[in-house]
Amino acid sequence: MKNTEASIGSKLLPVDPFDIVVFGATGDLALRKLLPALFHRWRDGQIPDGCKIIGAARAEMSRADFITTVEEHYRTFFPEEKNGADDWKAFGEHLHYCALDVASQDADWSALENLLAGGEDKIRLFYLALPPGLFGPVSTNIGARGLNTAQARIVLEKPIGHDLNSAREINNAVGKVFPEKSIFRIDHYLGKETVQNLLILRFTNSLFEPVWNANVVDHIQITVAETVGAGKRASYYDTSGALRDMVQNHMLQLLCLVAMEPPNDFGADTIRDEKIKVLRALKPITPKTATRDTVRGQYRDGAISGTAVPGYADELGKPSDTETFTALKVHVDNWRWSGVPFYLRTGKRMKERRSEIVIQFKRVAHALTPPEAGHLHPTRLVIRLQPDEGVKLLLMTKDPGPGGMRLRYVPLNLSYADTFCARYPDAYERVLMAVVRNDLGLFMRRDEVEAAWKWIDGILSAWNTDDMPCQPYAAGTDGPTQGAMLIDRDNREWFDGL
Ligand code: BG6
Repeated sequence: MKNTEASIGSKLLPVDPFDIVVFGATGDLALRKLLPALFHRWRDGQIPDGCKIIGAARAEMSRADFITTVEEHYRTFFPEEKNGADDWKAFGEHLHYCALDVASQDADWSALENLLAGGEDKIRLFYLALPPGLFGPVSTNIGARGLNTAQARIVLEKPIGHDLNSAREINNAVGKVFPEKSIFRIDHYLGKETVQNLLILRFTNSLFEPVWNANVVDHIQITVAETVGAGKRASYYDTSGALRDMVQNHMLQLLCLVAMEPPNDFGADTIRDEKIKVLRALKPITPKTATRDTVRGQYRDGAISGTAVPGYADELGKPSDTETFTALKVHVDNWRWSGVPFYLRTGKRMKERRSEIVIQFKRVAHALTPPEAGHLHPTRLVIRLQPDEGVKLLLMTKDPGPGGMRLRYVPLNLSYADTFCARYPDAYERVLMAVVRNDLGLFMRRDEVEAAWKWIDGILSAWNTDDMPCQPYAAGTDGPTQGAMLIDRDNREWFDGL
């Protein structure tokens, strides 16, 4: 255990000693996110002495080589972090490795069993950073070897399946070995600081709740734009696409947090009960409405910040009709949101990285100011999830000074960077520690995942026709023009900043 930053350390909730097995330990997620997250928690003093962090993967590798691999990747992904050799030596004490082909029926699990031996009473995490097809078999193997001790928890990385049926199969197989209260289905967006703040913003400020409904809100936009492409993940991504990769989980979770009714308390199940009501109220998208209310796109070559980048098919090495962009017009069929559209869009290789929720309020009933004073913009609440985290309330004001009546559209601005100085942890740091603390609130319950798939399946089958091909867009743009038309048609526009 190390505690270099007293100010952070003093705010840490202590956790009991635990062992964690990361299956898929040499994969991108483990090396880029999970192991660095554990390193950061260790550096901040939250990993107790005696915790074992056990990497498991197919490759034959010594423990020392694994530690070097983890450190080298860390230094590549976090070049700005200057951690000395001493830190890595000390953190390395927690790291262990075991070569294990979990996909093989007759793999020898004894090395892993030996590493876990003696820790039967400790909290034990099995993190499956693996393709979803392995979730069932790995759980079965864990159960067959009796490794599912009383304090064992299983962590499933998204996607949980690729449709409702496969999600149910996975949930059934995992559920035979672990009770629901020990299954942590990760959606790392729920661990983001700004996403957590959504509930606080909505439910601890008396200002918002009275206007958070169809009487005052005109529409809501949720944008998750990325500049990265599918890159090395292209062969996985091609089996998924933007709808499964981003909408089924991250974007629907954001929509739920924005649209849900106030929960009675912050209990995990109280919140999840409210979220699932939103998922069940989503109006199904049918083959008839899909051509009007959904857009699929795929990036061609282009340039991001002046650097040329290849198209998706070139990265993949073959032609494909998998969408790397989607825009949807969605309705939540309930009293609060009757008639209020939710416009969702997400894409890779977009002009800029930006995740944002925009609550756009209705225009004033009557314009008092003369047209020459300037355009009257609608009031907007803009919740910026990343980067430049913050909340802005965009308002009309009078431009101060002489020169007659002139209107200005300006933000009341809560910038996280200016207001809070602390480094806030990556979402994976928070979700990993939430598993250790047994806090299920940040994770998706079985019924939530299945309700989300049920709605997504409707779109997938509507797309499974010749009428919905991917529209091309150049990398470094806002996506295909059809994405803009989806909202223009309703005399609205995507909000792209002031
Ligand atoms: C993952 C998706 O769940 O989220 C990736 O599989 C995507 O395709 C990533 O790039 C985005 O996460 P973040 O935290 O960078 O917004």
